[in-house]
Amino acid sequence: MAILKSIIVALAAASAPITVLGFQLQSRAVVNMDPYPFCNVATNANCIAGGKYLIPILEFSSEGGAGDVAYNTYLPTSAWTFSKWTNGMMPERCYYWGVTADKWKATDFIIYNVTYSDCATPFVVCRHQKSTKSIGQLATIIGRLPVKMRQATSIYLVYGDQNSDNPNYGGYMATLAGDGIIIGRSVAYFSTSLVHETGHAIDSTLASPGSGKSFSSTTAWANAVKADGFAVSAYGAGSYVEDFAETTRAVLLDTIYPGGLSNFTQKNPNITQITNQLKAYKTVAGAYLTLGGKCDLAKKFPFPTELVKRV
Ligand SMILES: *[C@@H]1O[C@H](CO)[C@@H](O)[C@H](O)[C@H]1NC(C)=O
Ligand SMILES: *[C@@H]1O[C@H](CO)[C@@H](O)[C@H](O)[C@H]1NC(C)=O
Ligand SMILES: *[C@@H]1O[C@H](CO)[C@@H](O)[C@H](O)[C@H]1NC(C)=O
Repeated sequence: MAILKSIIVALAAASAPITVLGFQLQSRAVVNMDPYPFCNVATNANCIAGGKYLIPILEFSSEGGAGDVAYNTYLPTSAWTFSKWTNGMMPERCYYWGVTADKWKATDFIIYNVTYSDCATPFVVCRHQKSTKSIGQLATIIGRLPVKMRQATSIYLVYGDQNSDNPNYGGYMATLAGDGIIIGRSVAYFSTSLVHETGHAIDSTLASPGSGKSFSSTTAWANAVKADGFAVSAYGAGSYVEDFAETTRAVLLDTIYPGGLSNFTQKNPNITQITNQLKAYKTVAGAYLTLGGKCDLAKKFPFPTELVKRV
């Protein structure tokens, strides 16, 4: 894992500011965006495929949108148990991102192992006391991710929702794929946001094993996007890496929705505009977006063993 370049990416959501984190640079910029920020080729050099994206838009970005509802309907949640850490420690990565970088107080976090019936290795949730979702609610939402996807991660860092909880944090949700960690405000934890963020983790690990770079940075992905000429969504048009994460949502819907993505769009003929991206994604990572089975301990992002004192 150490050789993997960390991919840090953020999810835009309804009128929330998003944080773009730079792990290598250890810097961030806060930008305000609308829920479907489409890229403008004049101002964004990364704007792929000329800024064109699938129309009609796939309603899978917001909590309660059609995609989110479909995930909640067709993804069963895995049974879980949790146990609270009592050793006064926290994973070093929770300390680094939550305390050093994002300026929350270490003593305000409660650390949990969450163990799912489909994976022997626990996941760790570092939950700030201001989180408006309980550990049970969080475990249920995380447990909807098919285990073969979920295994791309290891740690969930969950913050409070109000700016007044911590005026130094202006972010929403992000993935630090090289650390196997997803970070977000508790309001940002809902099914479709986790599908997107886990897509980033899949991109840099499971879809590109041992390569040291994400699949979305390969020519194979660029060629699929180019062959289609349309990004999967408006947000996806902003960069290859976001387009890959958006494709995670599309492929998962195609897999679980009765009648697939075509049926999800009421058989809109334009769905063929993203055929090559769906195919390229399924070739490298489709197997991780299927239901059932167990996590593969050879592929699972490891349980965090580097710990620091929390209190
Ligand atoms: C199909 O895509 C084209 C090009 O983006 C768009 O103009 C058209 O409205 C779309 N058709 C439907 C039925 O959504
Ligand atoms: C959490 O899981 C780890 C790894 O399996 C284990 O060593 C540790 O004892 C567990 N802690 C708690 C509080 O369950
Ligand atoms: C298509 O989706 C509808 C619900 O939107 C469902 O009732 C129908 O059975 C699906 N068709 C197929 C072929 O699965």
